[in-house]
Amino acid sequence: MEKLQAALARAREKRDNDGRPVVRSQFGNATSARKTRKTAAVDERWAGLGMLEPSSKRMKASRILSIEATGEAQHFDILRTKLMLEMRRNDWTRIAITSATPGCGKTTSACNLIAGLGRQPELRGMLFDLDFRRPAVAKYFGVSPVSSLEDVLSQEILFEDQALRLHDNTIISMTTGVVSDPAQVILRSQTAELFDQIQDDYQPDLMLFDMPPVLVSDETRGFLKQVDAVLIIAGAEVTTVAQIDDVEREVAQYSNVAGIVLNKCQFMEENYSYSY
Ligand SMILES: Nc1ncnc2c1ncn2[C@@H]1O[C@H](COP(=O)(O)OP(=O)(O)OP(=O)(O)O)[C@@H](O)[C@H]1O
Ligand SMILES: [Mg+2]
Repeated sequence: MEKLQAALARAREKRDNDGRPVVRSQFGNATSARKTRKTAAVDERWAGLGMLEPSSKRMKASRILSIEATGEAQHFDILRTKLMLEMRRNDWTRIAITSATPGCGKTTSACNLIAGLGRQPELRGMLFDLDFRRPAVAKYFGVSPVSSLEDVLSQEILFEDQALRLHDNTIISMTTGVVSDPAQVILRSQTAELFDQIQDDYQPDLMLFDMPPVLVSDETRGFLKQVDAVLIIAGAEVTTVAQIDDVEREVAQYSNVAGIVLNKCQFMEENYSYSY
């Protein structure tokens, strides 16, 4: 626990003199070139998607707390606000969520971020379940979609026929089952083109990708080139300082580090701590 706090403090020290995080700009920005004004056609595309009907009971059991503005949601709301500010400051749109090891809270954090964004109607966000090894977004919302993000990436179904809105301003593209060769699907060039097309068509402020742990997944490593920044989730009492360092180093080879979230803190008032 103390070691993790020390790692977070070290990360904080990386801030520049303004107290703002140092931006590793040498990776450029996968987004800025594609940003254009929102149009009526974009609005129509959003309005044309079906609505998800999540189970309140299941969401509560899965700790998706930020769907409503309750006290329980505040830690995720703070995380969302900090992330969105950071994204605006750096002109980022695509954020991957990863960790060193399994079970740190990536999917829980991703679901809460998108659920909380639903309460910010001026912004638009999309969540993609790209953890083809342990897909869990559908389970956490308590839904059983008929088709999978994998079907979209394999061009068997159109995105507009697969993705569903959680709110008017949030979209979720879920994965229905384990994919046997995830790297083959995620890293092929047509997948990159598809995400570009989706971004052009829907003009979201946030594209969030729930990924497998970076240290055990080739497809996460390979996909990081396609995102603007990465949110690293560390599990208190689970992730070691050395693992956080490894993930940060690994991520920094391909993309920017948006921040590190220390999740599952038992000994703090907050269950979450966010740092740069
Ligand atoms: N802050 C928290 N406090 C308590 N339990 C949590 C917290 N965050 C997540 N969990 C629980 O920990 C378990 C793992 O969470 P989650 O599925 O989000 O992790 P993950 O990193 O996505 O795992 P995987 O590597 O399997 O994809 C779940 O049972 C979840 O409810
Ligand atoms: Mg997960």
